[in-house]
Order: sequence, then structure tokens, then C-alpha cells
Amino acid sequence: MTKAVQSQTADLLAAAEQSVLFTAKRPNVVMERGEGMQLWDTEGKSYLDFIGGWAVTSLGHSPAVLRDALMKQSGELVHASPGFYNKPMIEFSQLLTDISGFDKVFFANSGAEANESAVKLARKHGALHLGGAYEIITLTNSFHGRTLAMMSATGKAQWDTLFEPKVPGFIHVPINDFDACFAAISNKTCAIMLELVQGEGGVNAVDSAYLQAIRKACDVYGIMLIVDEIQTGLARTGKLFAFQHYDIQPDVLTLGKGIGGGYPLSAMLTTNKFDLFVQGDQGGTYNGAPLAMAVGLAVVQEILRLGLAEQAAAVGSYAINKLQELSRTYPISNIRGKGLLFAFDVPDGTAQPLVAQCMEDGLLINAPKPATIRFMPPLIATKSDIDEMIGLLQKAMTGIGLSAS
Ligand SMILES: Cc1ncc(COP(=O)(O)O)c(C=O)c1O
Repeated sequence: MTKAVQSQTADLLAAAEQSVLFTAKRPNVVMERGEGMQLWDTEGKSYLDFIGGWAVTSLGHSPAVLRDALMKQSGELVHASPGFYNKPMIEFSQLLTDISGFDKVFFANSGAEANESAVKLARKHGALHLGGAYEIITLTNSFHGRTLAMMSATGKAQWDTLFEPKVPGFIHVPINDFDACFAAISNKTCAIMLELVQGEGGVNAVDSAYLQAIRKACDVYGIMLIVDEIQTGLARTGKLFAFQHYDIQPDVLTLGKGIGGGYPLSAMLTTNKFDLFVQGDQGGTYNGAPLAMAVGLAVVQEILRLGLAEQAAAVGSYAINKLQELSRTYPISNIRGKGLLFAFDVPDGTAQPLVAQCMEDGLLINAPKPATIRFMPPLIATKSDIDEMIGLLQKAMTGIGLSAS
């Protein structure tokens, strides 16, 4: 590494401090380039990426299909107007309905925005069919996004008193406690909204019997079941959709992150039964715009062509086995997850130092909680990427003194 490169990074970091509004502590690196499973910073250091752009870069970094779709579509039509259909929008909505069992798609730009659309649709259903019911039951420890309404929907204790007053109408109940959920249902309830594997909450999956009981209760009381698959969606959990692990069909599904492969894009899918919006209820300048649609179509087609759901299942269970082997020598416990969304616990307070040491050693992982390490790599990850990750993890654990008791 030359002095010039070092000083370029220092200058960039100083400029960032001056001009980028603080919202998050970021390490002192500037990311510059990505390819496949690797990221490089401005000093030329490479990182094996097991954060995957926060469960986003499903095809890895800068995949050719995404670049080609952007090039082709930007040469034809970047943006017409939200008032017009465009060809990739129609093709992409047909593809998503074909693979999911839903009938209709509304496109948006972020996960939070797709979830907002789901909540609007639920309240519309409440207004039309449930005597004005508007309440939505969600889970404690859930995460649904950062708009004001999604902060209310999210069950994060640290947000309880942030940005008051909260958007009303959200009730939180603990995961896998059907009695608590049932007790929260009233004539004001229009929907239940769930992540099937809580991602930001530390990788906690719902139980099958619990989810099936919720589906039944929704059917009996005419309540809409919304499943937030912004993080689990499209192939990450080893099936195209996490709900396919549970033998249920939601009424509304939200997707984001991985369906754009890095391009901002999200979607809300529903059935003909809940095709309830009328002119003016929902929309947005960029929703369904050609560039995003062409990218999403290309990314999803590639996920299907490469069979990445099956690959995520196989590589994910290989990773779990390797972590179990590691747990014989290192203090890691509660290894859990589905496909390429997995986690383990470490002694309290050691997760963040471990993340920092891994980064120093060239591995990117995430600590959603002070005692939890989470992995959400690109779906192209192979068994040899897992072996490399395990080697780096082992080195970092030894480096911070986290070794066998
Ligand atoms: C389950 C879930 N829902 C919603 C969101 C919000 O998505 P976005 O940050 O794109 O608004 C996230 C983001 O991490 C998520 O994991």
C-alpha cells in the first residue's frame, strides 16, 4: 500500500466526517469495488463478504446480469412516468406471480415502503370488510423498517420512546406464543404481520404449529396475514420463499433487498381477494420504473436459472455443520438459521469485538445483538467460501481470546 493511497483514504474519511450526516458508526474504511464474494476498500484490502450488502447482493457484487440489464434498459427507457405501464414492469410482475402463487404485485423502492403498502392494504380491508378495524398485531423483537409507521410496527425496545408520538394501531406480542397472539385479537384487528425468520432480531424462526394456528385464526376472523420476507425472500432460506417451509400461504407478502441484487427495489404481492386499492390509495414517482424493473427481472431470472434456493439450502447446512464442529473448541452456542441466513451466540459483549477483529482479518460479519453473530452472504456462496469464512472466524476468535474453556 503506497503513502498516496493511504492519504487518499484519510482525505476521504475527513471529507465524510465533514459532509455525511451521522446516522451510524462506520469503520474507518471506504469501500470502492466489489466482485462476487469480495469487497475491496480504497487501500486495496479485500474482504470476504458474509454480510452481503445486508442480505441484498444475492448474486454477489457487481454481477454481469445486473450490469447488462442496467446498460440495456438505460439505453432504451430510464423513466416514463408512474402514470404509464412499461414492458419490464409487466414481465417482472408476471414472473413474481408465477413463482409465488400470488395474483397481483405493487412495486416500491425500499422494504419499509413495501411494508407501508401492506399496512395500507390491511387498513383498507379493515375499513371495507371488518367494520373499520385498523389494528395490526406484530411481534416483539421484529424489524419492519424505519419510516414512522414501520418504527411503530417494529418491536424493538430501543425505539419505544423514539420520535414520539408513535403512529398508533400496532400491538406487539412475543414470537411463538399463540395464546398471546390470540389474546391480542379483537374486533379492531385487521392484520397480523410477521417475519418468519426474524433477521435484525437475531435470526429467530417461527414454529410451524404456531404459524399454522395463526393462519387458521386469520381465516376464522377474516384477518389479513402479512408476511414480511424483505430479508428472507427469494431463495435466502433455502426455498424461494420462507413461507414455503411452513405449508401456508400468506394473504400479503413483502419482498425487497435480494430481488434487486443491490438496486433499490421492493414489492408487495397479494391475491385477487385483496385487490382493494382504488385510484389514489397508493403510488409513488419511482414505483415500477423501467430501470428497476429490468434489473429486478434479470436478477430474479438469474436466481432461478442458477437454482440458488437449492444452493442456499445445501451451503447453509454445510455452514451449520462446520459451526457445530467449531463449537467444540470455541464458546459459540445456539447455532441456528435457515439456508444462508444463520447465526450463533457468543459470550455477552464479545460479538462486536469479534466483528471488528474479523474485519481486520478480512471477513465481514454482523452482530445484530451484543451476544449474537449473524451471516447473510450472497446466495452464490459455495462450500469453499464457507471453509474460508470458518478459517478467518477461527483466527479472529483466537485473536480476541475467545477460545475453548
Ligand atoms: C424483515 C425486514 N423488513 C423490512 C426491512 C426494511 O427494509 P429497507 O431498509 O429496505 O426499508 C428490513 C431491513 O433490514 C428487514 O430486514
